[in-house]
Amino acid sequence: MICDLRSDTVTKPTPAMLDAMLHAPVGDDVFGEDPTVNQLEKKCADMLGMDGAVFCPSGTMTNQIGIKVLTQPYEEVICYKGSHIFRYEGGGLAGNSHVGARLLNGDRGRISVAEISANINNAADSHQSITSVVALENTVVREAGSFYTLAEIKEVSTLCRSRNLKTHLDGARLFNALAETNDPAADYGKYFDTISICLSKGLGAPVGSVLAYKKEYEKKARRVRKAFGGGMRQAGFLAAAGIYALDHHIARLKEDHQRARALGNSLQKLSWVKSVMPVDTNIVIIEVAAGLTPEKVLAKLSEHHIRALPFSATEIRFVTHLDFSDDMLDKCVSVFNKLAF
Ligand SMILES: Cc1ncc(COP(=O)(O)O)c(C=O)c1O
Repeated sequence: MICDLRSDTVTKPTPAMLDAMLHAPVGDDVFGEDPTVNQLEKKCADMLGMDGAVFCPSGTMTNQIGIKVLTQPYEEVICYKGSHIFRYEGGGLAGNSHVGARLLNGDRGRISVAEISANINNAADSHQSITSVVALENTVVREAGSFYTLAEIKEVSTLCRSRNLKTHLDGARLFNALAETNDPAADYGKYFDTISICLSKGLGAPVGSVLAYKKEYEKKARRVRKAFGGGMRQAGFLAAAGIYALDHHIARLKEDHQRARALGNSLQKLSWVKSVMPVDTNIVIIEVAAGLTPEKVLAKLSEHHIRALPFSATEIRFVTHLDFSDDMLDKCVSVFNKLAF
């Protein structure tokens, strides 16, 4: 039994999902003629309370399109210093949009109205770049899946509107956040100009992300997707997996959170673990004990067919997902308890 906890992106489609893919009606989506892609885009826009949406191959692309449509070169985006858009998208903010980033500490990645207010540049001063966007991430991957509530999001959005700033959400794991807060997804559309969600993480689709937006961004988002090389043809086979995931895999996300908490609780007690970040959703990040390295621990775990990800010089990340069962959880806990260095 292999327990692959490196990421929630490692899942394989279920037989029922594959069946939905196999029977999807398709057409050429670059001509706007793929009925399944059109259905997925409409479904996502409706679910998120947005006017439209565009299907893309990856969350990196949906984030990068979001920032591109909301900014002009030389401007600045405010975001958490460990945010995916800044830290894990290959320098795309600079390369694709020619914008700078103002990096905030946040409280476990959640940036506050006070922090944002203090970091908006003075647009009348030509020394300073123009602050044009605030980008939030929900859940925050670098902070073990910490999440914002809708009330917190509303406060940030109200500030942004009052200061003429646009808002982007990296909602790669938005449905994990909603599983904990029970906030309605459709209310998110009130507070953001663009929202990226991933179908290929906790939701278990093999490929795909969607950027939802307000109608003024429709044309530009589609144009930028093409320019980024994201115009796909009979993409309905993939979109069908996304529709299936949205219909069948949201309600079960809480199971992933319970298993992640169980992993976190077991890790907390061990001599080879220095600390465990609070486990809020489906991500567990530990710091290994002094004298150990993530590589040393991971090598031992891999002898037992358990895989996780080195996350820094001292940290390891474990992510639970659709293909991580209770039996696997039991196995991991028993291996963790036996491990000695
Ligand atoms: C928070 C967050 N945003 C965006 C992405 C990018 O998604 P993709 O790997 O599909 O480009 C990831 C990927 O893990 C992520 O964790």
